[in-house]
Amino acid sequence: MAQHWTPDTWRTLPVVQMPDYPDAAKLAAVEAQLKGFPPLVFAGEARKLKRKLAKVAEGKGFLLQGGDCAESFEEHSADNIRDFFRVFLQMAIVLTFGASSPVVKVGRIAGQFAKPRSAPNETVDGVTLPAYRGDIINSNDFTPEGRIPDPERQLMAYRQSAATLNLLRAFAQGGYANLEHVHNWTLGFLRDSPASARYQALADRLTETLNFMRAIGINADTAPQLRQTDFFTSHEALLLGYEQALTRVDSTSGDWYATSGHMLWIGDRTRQPEGAHVEFARGVQNPIGLKCGPSLTPDELLRLIDILNPSNEAGRLTLICRYGVDKVEAHLPGLIRAVTRAGRHVVWSCDPMHGNTIKASTGYKTRPFDQIMGEVKRFMAVHQAEGTHAGGIHVEMTGKNVTECTGGAQLVTEADLSDRYHSFCDPRLNADQALELAFLIAEQLKKESAFKPQEVESLDAAE
Ligand code: PEP
Ligand code: CO
Repeated sequence: MAQHWTPDTWRTLPVVQMPDYPDAAKLAAVEAQLKGFPPLVFAGEARKLKRKLAKVAEGKGFLLQGGDCAESFEEHSADNIRDFFRVFLQMAIVLTFGASSPVVKVGRIAGQFAKPRSAPNETVDGVTLPAYRGDIINSNDFTPEGRIPDPERQLMAYRQSAATLNLLRAFAQGGYANLEHVHNWTLGFLRDSPASARYQALADRLTETLNFMRAIGINADTAPQLRQTDFFTSHEALLLGYEQALTRVDSTSGDWYATSGHMLWIGDRTRQPEGAHVEFARGVQNPIGLKCGPSLTPDELLRLIDILNPSNEAGRLTLICRYGVDKVEAHLPGLIRAVTRAGRHVVWSCDPMHGNTIKASTGYKTRPFDQIMGEVKRFMAVHQAEGTHAGGIHVEMTGKNVTECTGGAQLVTEADLSDRYHSFCDPRLNADQALELAFLIAEQLKKESAFKPQEVESLDAAE
């Protein structure tokens, strides 16, 4: 029998990765203020996402989840949001074509501000200060004042999330997402890419398909699916006081929903079955992600599934696997077999970023493109061998032309990293690398041919 749950039951349990706020009264005042603010998302939207993810769990769709490692206050601009959304939509279309199945689009955006850290402190030139924990908590400035957790930052994060979401909703519904435009942007990318020959065949088939559809009268004027799209938001539910303040009862269902984003995930460092983060997540009805790193055993995973999804609802739980390119075979098959044997419905997604971080000789944290793609390939191969569905990817990316990950067709070398290394946290794929990854995965998906054409159905059909 599950224990009683309310949005604050996590407070009685052991908690890790949370800041120590020096001013408790100020923190309480901010949380009270947040509690009175409007929700950022609606329960009905979270339910819609869950229905789409349920289809992915059945093998009838693919999840594309991506965005910044951490959003920052400084880089909040319309250009950044637009450029991210633009490349994200291109990836989605390339993947839709590759998988011959609908792609569920979930951004790591409009709320992705808090960062778990491996070390509580950071030392630079012999000076040690508390680590930066994301703009919702403290400042990246390496000063003693900057690193003090400031509750007021939560208000700023809330307002930035609202503004970002507002623009994304306008883009998704207001014509910017028109399939024909998106495809034309991709053709532009191919003109400039040194690897264009490799992707041209797939792009040509997509062009042909669009031409055919236009010829028979299916276009953006006649089919709303071609001019608008569903886009959802997600972030790591790390700062639990903030999450609690934005958790509300949905008047339609009477259930609790986190309203800070559509989907929340639990990080690899905060997934203790008896811990506060799992406790919080178990009581909200949103789709939940769970990061699965090398230390997660099959037994512990089954226990977490029992806690987080006791009714075995498809779409509720997405397992986001992040091992590192050389560790996939050692860990993933055991988890897949345990979950399959237990008859649990999950979405299997691959985060090829967090297990492949290395330090370049120049001191920058980076991720080689080939290792990122390598982890996706191995993830897909394991699923094919196990007869399960490789259901999605989770990537850190930006729409800007940064130099944070090495490799890709427009070869970024270790020496280039200092040119445009803008991330405060983990290295992201730049726009070209992100789209290239989508093309390579689409190629794999086509080869895998897990989808028979007659099985293709739109995720929007049932709505
Ligand atoms: C992240 O997704 O930014 C992250 C910190 O991942 P993980 O919890 O898998 O390390
Ligand atoms: Co990260």
